[in-house]
Amino acid sequence: MSTHPVRVTVNGRAMEGQAEARMTLVDFLRDVLGLTGTHIGCEHGVCGACSVIFDGRPIRSCLMYAVQADGHAITTVEGLEGADGRLSPLQDAFWENHAMQCGYCTPGMLIAAHALLSENPDPDEHAVRDAIGGNLCRCTGYVQIVEAVQMAAKKMREGRE
Ligand code: FES
Ligand code: FES
Repeated sequence: MSTHPVRVTVNGRAMEGQAEARMTLVDFLRDVLGLTGTHIGCEHGVCGACSVIFDGRPIRSCLMYAVQADGHAITTVEGLEGADGRLSPLQDAFWENHAMQCGYCTPGMLIAAHALLSENPDPDEHAVRDAIGGNLCRCTGYVQIVEAVQMAAKKMREGRE
């Protein structure tokens, strides 16, 4: 099977690897680049576990071929931490609110919430639920996730004041 070079900027770093034409972006991130924070659930665009930010917008990396990502910028859950390696306000709020149980959905939830807060610094409950509506969680019932996103938004607003 022939492979193709794929050059991407991931979490601000230029990275490169070889991918078969049919390899998905999520497999490339995990198996070629070693970034295993992005999870694989349904593999057909339903669960949101594989969410990443692609050129500034959240996408499902199981629905894109790695070769389609050549030349583009990606943020994975590993890129959400602060520059000093500490948890971001969003990650910290998930921790504080117990917004995870098994944690399988958490990377995708964080990506969806990060994308929301990048556009809307003060989302109401409806906006948060709408933003994470495409991300399935089998454990939490979503309430603490919504609370965590709103707590993070508040802390981030206060941090800017
Ligand atoms: S693994 Fe991509 S949406 Fe479920
Ligand atoms: S914490 Fe288990 S699926 Fe969400």
